[in-house]
Amino acid sequence: MLLHVREVLSPDELRQARDVLRSAPWQDGRLTAGEQSAKAKNNEQLREDCDETRALQQLLLRGLERNQIFFSAALPKQISPPLFNRYGGSANSFGNHVDSAVRFLRDGSGRVRTDISCTLFLADPDEYDGGELVIEDTFGEQRVKLPAGDMVLYPGTSVHRVLAVTRGYRTASYFWIQSMVRSDEQRRLLFDMDAHLRHLRSTFGETDPGVIGLTSTYHNLLRMWLDV
Ligand code: NI
Repeated sequence: MLLHVREVLSPDELRQARDVLRSAPWQDGRLTAGEQSAKAKNNEQLREDCDETRALQQLLLRGLERNQIFFSAALPKQISPPLFNRYGGSANSFGNHVDSAVRFLRDGSGRVRTDISCTLFLADPDEYDGGELVIEDTFGEQRVKLPAGDMVLYPGTSVHRVLAVTRGYRTASYFWIQSMVRSDEQRRLLFDMDAHLRHLRSTFGETDPGVIGLTSTYHNLLRMWLDV
């Protein structure tokens, strides 16, 4: 499932994040690429072990924590620490690649199976030309370029690329999620059901017998499919 999640960061948080990014220590993105993706990768990223990255990670995780749509769609078991990249100038694109199936966390605290890939845009579309995230999907190619503060979730299994930025800079955060529900198909069904339930609840109220019954079915499906 490919999903656009709106306003993960408030305008105020976005301003704070962009202030930090302006003076942040960018480095060559190829330093952390695997052998295959190093050939395709040509961007800059923020050092993982600096105060700026830690401050931005906190800000982002707070935004994710309060976002109901994100939780309903991702059912996160573990979120890899958000990282930050920038495309522009001569370091402006990332060719077709697949993300590694497992992310080993830097501090040795564990690993994350990359069920879901996430990109949160930190620059507005009118600040740069190009820079679309292109995701190859069963419906064909999806081109994604979202307002600053918005995020796209897509299956970790997808081949994807970032088109060359020909004007300005595209800054973004990227990270991965290991979901409590491993199957994309099951996650999709649960997300749809939860969305319909929210609608029914607001139309008929919490105590409607049909609403109570379907809520019970939703949780029973969770119990069947969840790995906590
Ligand atoms: Ni990638």
